[in-house]
Amino acid sequence: MSDDLKAAVGRAAAALVEDGMTLGLGTGSTTAFALQEIGRRIRENGLRVRGVPTSFAAERLARQHGIPLTSFEETPSLDLALDGADEVSPSLDLVKGRGAAMTREKIVAAQAARFVVLVDASKRVPRLGTKMPVPVEVLPMAVTPVAAILEALGATVAVREGSGKDGPVVTDQGLWILDASFDGGLTDPAITAAAIKIVPGVLDHGLFVGMATDVLVASPEGIEHLTR
Ligand code: A5P
Repeated sequence: MSDDLKAAVGRAAAALVEDGMTLGLGTGSTTAFALQEIGRRIRENGLRVRGVPTSFAAERLARQHGIPLTSFEETPSLDLALDGADEVSPSLDLVKGRGAAMTREKIVAAQAARFVVLVDASKRVPRLGTKMPVPVEVLPMAVTPVAAILEALGATVAVREGSGKDGPVVTDQGLWILDASFDGGLTDPAITAAAIKIVPGVLDHGLFVGMATDVLVASPEGIEHLTR
């Protein structure tokens, strides 16, 4: 996805933000453009918003752009959550978590009246799991039994390795990521999502079923706005 498309869809998402809104601030290179634009509107137009970040990365970016931060203690429900995705299905279900932030992203999206997803057309797939593995956040001591259950569900499983550090990726929660690849994709993401969620040692996973209310899809022809 080119930076031009990311910037275009980021601006389109930021245009949905209205004065006084409480926001979910997503993680990733596409949402970063939306946060940049929201920061510009705060500086130049006096836009008043507050946001709950979905990761340490989103928190740092929000601070850089001057977006006031809040928490669920202060702000239990959100008007609008903005976030990227790695895959979008025809029914607007998602795979997320390339950046290992899916657990907090899901918590934040679940509190939002509207969950707007920013992607380009390359992320639309006929079936979830076609191009991307499903990330699963696990306690390190549970990696072996969780991997065995994921394999029994039909996945090929790998511990996600870090870069800039030897060893596994460590999430914002201090846990590890198992990437579960399903050959040919998932026939029923809701069933797979529920099956993974209940495995002891799993915190959460990157399948977002029935959560996105809006998906903004950038392509050279413009921005397509899909709604559930
Ligand atoms: C973070 O863990 C992810 O869920 C991202 O939101 C997702 O990978 C999209 O990222 P990009 O916008 O960088 O593609």
